[in-house]
Amino acid sequence: STKKILFLPGDGIGPEVMAQVRRVMDWLVASGRASFEVEDGLVGGSAYDAHGTPLHDDTMKLALAADAVLLGAVGGPKWDNLDFSLKPERGLLRLRKDMELFANLRPALVFDALAEASSLKTELVAGLDILIVRELTGGVYFGQPRGISDLPNGERRGVNTQVYDTHEIVRVARVAFDLAGKRDKRLCSVEKANVMESGLLWREEVTKIGTTEFPDIALSHMYADNCAMQLVRQPKQFDVIVTDNLFGDLLSDCAAMLTGSLGMLPSASLGEADANGARKAMYEPVHGSAPDIAGQNKANPLATILSFSMMLRYSFDMGVEADLIDQAVRDVLADGIRTGDIMQPGKTLVGTSGMGDALLAK
Ligand code: NAI
Ligand code: MG
Repeated sequence: STKKILFLPGDGIGPEVMAQVRRVMDWLVASGRASFEVEDGLVGGSAYDAHGTPLHDDTMKLALAADAVLLGAVGGPKWDNLDFSLKPERGLLRLRKDMELFANLRPALVFDALAEASSLKTELVAGLDILIVRELTGGVYFGQPRGISDLPNGERRGVNTQVYDTHEIVRVARVAFDLAGKRDKRLCSVEKANVMESGLLWREEVTKIGTTEFPDIALSHMYADNCAMQLVRQPKQFDVIVTDNLFGDLLSDCAAMLTGSLGMLPSASLGEADANGARKAMYEPVHGSAPDIAGQNKANPLATILSFSMMLRYSFDMGVEADLIDQAVRDVLADGIRTGDIMQPGKTLVGTSGMGDALLAK
């Protein structure tokens, strides 16, 4: 059936990298492998310039009606001094909030051809393929009470509250178990149950779901500080990691650096499944709008193309087509084709559209 996709290119290099995804989509359609209905919308600074808001209500409606959303990046110096509520990021945050995207998927995948470019020992990261599932809508970033208050003794106090309710833990755990089932059937749940009540509840609830609903997945538990250490020491011990909002923020950035370049990192954010099992979903590269190279045909489009491949895999059950794209990326890198951000001595430097050309040729 025809898949409805909302395209939100955003600002800076966003439109440049999204244009290369369009070419890959057109190829899938032309070769009879898929049928897409694409709508284009504005988000971030470009939406502010057109409508005075970083996300127009009509665009929000399109996002809620789409089968999946693909976003480029938002932000840039032009909009840095806007009021908080008008800043480009607010558009992104509203999308995540109104679509109730509670599970953030961050793969850390090392392509063999790039393993030697990693800042870590090649043998530690070669062939690395882990997936971090971060809870995205709860925890200490949103918990009440919060704020800064004056104390009677003249000091000030800053307060944030780490809160997790059962349903918030259970729904993200289900997503993670489900993904582990499609991969190596191993899930590592990460918290600090030794010092945090929310961590203790997290461990109990994840264990319960594992035992009752996913007995074939090997579940392990790890304290977050140890996990940070293990990610750097022996990252290949992990398959899927599930963790809360705060620890997931830190650990996914840590894992990202195992892979070398921001220009190679895709992500997905998923919401609750409807009666047909379809989830609201938004896919986007991890990188930002890179104003320093915007408009120069220098940006690496692979993070966004790999985000589209995740969309095919997780939203549309098109694993075969996703594999085709992932393999083409591997082949292009093996041929020594590089954008500036992943350039190595003796390789062939290409621009954004040149990378698209090479990928389509494969
Ligand atoms: P950034 O990710 O845009 O850039 C960091 C560095 O990595 C820059 O040197 C950039 O040239 C390079 N880079 C990033 N993506 C690349 C790609 N695809 N190919 C080649 N090089 C790439 O982060 P930065 O500089 O902190 O933020 C720039 C703007 O982006 C800010 O306005 C920020 O708010 C926004 N931003 C937006 C995000 C989003 O839309 N999800 C995430 C992070 C930042
Ligand atoms: Mg972060």
